[in-house]
Amino acid sequence: MSMGLSYTLITGASSGMGACCAKHFSQTQNLVLASENMEMLEKVRCECTRPEEHVLWHCDFANQRDQILPSLSTLLEEKSITIDKYVHFAGLTQVLPIKDFVIPYVDKVFNVNFFSIVEILRVLLKKHNKKALQSVVLISALVSQRGDAGNSIYAASKGAINALVYSLAKELAPNVRINAVMPGMVDTPMAQRVEESFRNHIWDKNPLGKGEPMDVINYVEFLLSDKARWITGQTAFVDGGQSL
Ligand SMILES: NC(=O)c1ccc[n+]([C@@H]2O[C@H](COP(=O)([O-])OP(=O)(O)OC[C@H]3O[C@@H](n4cnc5c(N)ncnc54)[C@H](OP(=O)(O)O)[C@@H]3O)[C@@H](O)[C@H]2O)c1
Repeated sequence: MSMGLSYTLITGASSGMGACCAKHFSQTQNLVLASENMEMLEKVRCECTRPEEHVLWHCDFANQRDQILPSLSTLLEEKSITIDKYVHFAGLTQVLPIKDFVIPYVDKVFNVNFFSIVEILRVLLKKHNKKALQSVVLISALVSQRGDAGNSIYAASKGAINALVYSLAKELAPNVRINAVMPGMVDTPMAQRVEESFRNHIWDKNPLGKGEPMDVINYVEFLLSDKARWITGQTAFVDGGQSL
């Protein structure tokens, strides 16, 4: 493994858009791949270009929120690596009416979708990584601005991401740019858990049809790169026109 190089941190790298992003970015970047499911994460690493160059970070964001900071700090120190780009794909939802939610589950959704970001940024903005970090992209969701019956807790956790981005863009400039992407429905395991007829209905009436992971990842790649050097604090729909 190369020492002293900068890495891109991808959370949610075991599945869906995060896994697809890992495989795409591995052609050009060294990666830290994070998820709770180590078996799936190892499988994704094996499918990456130069698999031996990429580092796995195992952490359960839902149930081990207190462990995020120490475990990431230790990993970066032990491997002598810094993170210059960070994209947060980790996300959790369950469609339920608000009356049926129990607080421990609300906590889990917010831990994975929002609080883990805060803990990770606390590591990336401190000590030896502070000068390395350049660009952050957080995956929000269209429903954070358009609403979705039965998905209120998830939508609220994504709304928290948007608000975080607006303030941190000011707080962290000019050294770090931070943006969010709000995808519409994209064909991943998360979307495949939605009833098939509803999914097809959304895609059928969408101006640009069905969304694929690379439709989102191409935009994430642009935002993380120097081509977006004058873009910060934005929360952008990537949704084939679904928000119209
Ligand atoms: N697909 C869509 O239609 C859509 C639309 C808008 C926004 N999004 C957002 O896009 C992002 C990627 O979604 P996706 O569709 O690719 O979903 P996915 O296939 O279900 O992937 C979700 C990822 O989040 C990780 N994750 C879940 N619980 C975790 C935990 N406790 N600790 C650590 N990691 C955890 C999963 O890792 P494990 O394997 O460890 O569980 C997995 O890698 C999410 O933030 C989602 O909210 C998706």
